[in-house]
Amino acid sequence: MEYTSTVTQQTTANTSIDDRFLQDVVAGLTSTPKHLESKYFYDAQGDKIFQELMNCEEYYPTNCEMEIFTSQTAEICKAIIADGDAFDLIELGAGDATKSTQLLKYLIDNEADFTYLPIDISDNVISYLNITLPVTLPGIKIEGLNGEYFDMLKKAAAISNKRKVVMFLGSNIGNMQVADAEGFCKELRNNLSTGDMVLIGVDLKKNPATVLAAYNDSEGITKRFNINLLERINRELGGDFNTRQFDHYAMYDPETGSCKSYLISLADQEVKIGQEIISFQKDEYIYMEISQKYAVEQVNEMAGKSGFKPLDRFFDNKKWFVDAVWTAE
Ligand code: AVI
Repeated sequence: MEYTSTVTQQTTANTSIDDRFLQDVVAGLTSTPKHLESKYFYDAQGDKIFQELMNCEEYYPTNCEMEIFTSQTAEICKAIIADGDAFDLIELGAGDATKSTQLLKYLIDNEADFTYLPIDISDNVISYLNITLPVTLPGIKIEGLNGEYFDMLKKAAAISNKRKVVMFLGSNIGNMQVADAEGFCKELRNNLSTGDMVLIGVDLKKNPATVLAAYNDSEGITKRFNINLLERINRELGGDFNTRQFDHYAMYDPETGSCKSYLISLADQEVKIGQEIISFQKDEYIYMEISQKYAVEQVNEMAGKSGFKPLDRFFDNKKWFVDAVWTAE
C-alpha cells in the first residue's frame, strides 16, 4: 500500500521541525487510510518506552543482536577491518550506541585505525555520545554528526576520503516497506565508493507467534509506545486525543513477513489538532508502523539489487536475527 502525503511533498527546506511534524500528522490523518509516521515515536517519552521494550523478554530483536555482538565480536571486527587500512566507522541512528560499543571497544583494544562517526537526527544523542564515549572508551576518535542520514553521509565523505564502514543496526531497515528498503539501500550505495562496507542488522522470519508476541507484549509496553504518539500530538501540537478511546492492534503475516501495528478508534469521535478537526469512525484504524521480517535469501537479494556483494553474515544461536556484512561493488 502506498502512503503519500502532498503536504509533505510541498514542504520547503526552511520548514521548522515543529511545522513539519504538524504537516505530516495532518496529512496522515486526513488520508485514506489514516496513518502516522513511526519516526515520530521517538520523543523523550518514546525513547524511554522503547528502552523498556528493549528490556522486555517478548521483544527479542535487541537480545538477539546483542548476543551476536558479544559472542562474535572478533569475527565481526575482522570482517570490517579487512586489510587493516584506516577507515571511518559510521553508525546510522546511533542511539545510545550500546551494541556498537562492543565493537568499538574491541577495535580500540586491537589498535585498529578508525574514527567513529555516529549519525543521529537527535542533537541530544550526538552531544551525549560526544561527551560520554571518550570517557567509557578512552582513546576513541569520535566525530558525531547531527542530521538526516544521507546529508550526513555526504558530510562524512567530505570530512575524509578514508574507506567507509556503515552500520545500520537493530533492524531499523524493517521499519520501511520492502520497496522503500531497497530504495534506501540503493541510495546508501550511491553515497559510498567501491570497497566501502555496510554492516546491517535484519530481523528474520520465524515462528509467527514469536513475532506477534514481540509487537503485542503482555505488559502492554508496545501499546504505550504507540499511544505515546497520540500523547505527543497532544503535548506538542495542542491536540485533544482521548487516548483511552484508542486500542493497539498488531498483526503478523507469515507469508509476506510484514508485521504491522495499528491504533483502533473505539468510538465515533472527533479530534482537534491545531486548526484541523479529524473525524474517526468506531473501529477505524490508524496505520502506525511496519516491522518487516525477511528470509535470509531476501537479505542477500537486497544486497545484490542495490549494488552490494554479501561478504559475511552473523546469526544469533536461534537464527532469529542476522547481521550481514556487504561490500559496495
Ligand atoms: C526501531 N525498530 C526496529 C523497532 C521494530 O522492531 O520495528 C520499533 C518497534 N516498534 C514496536 N516495537 C519496536
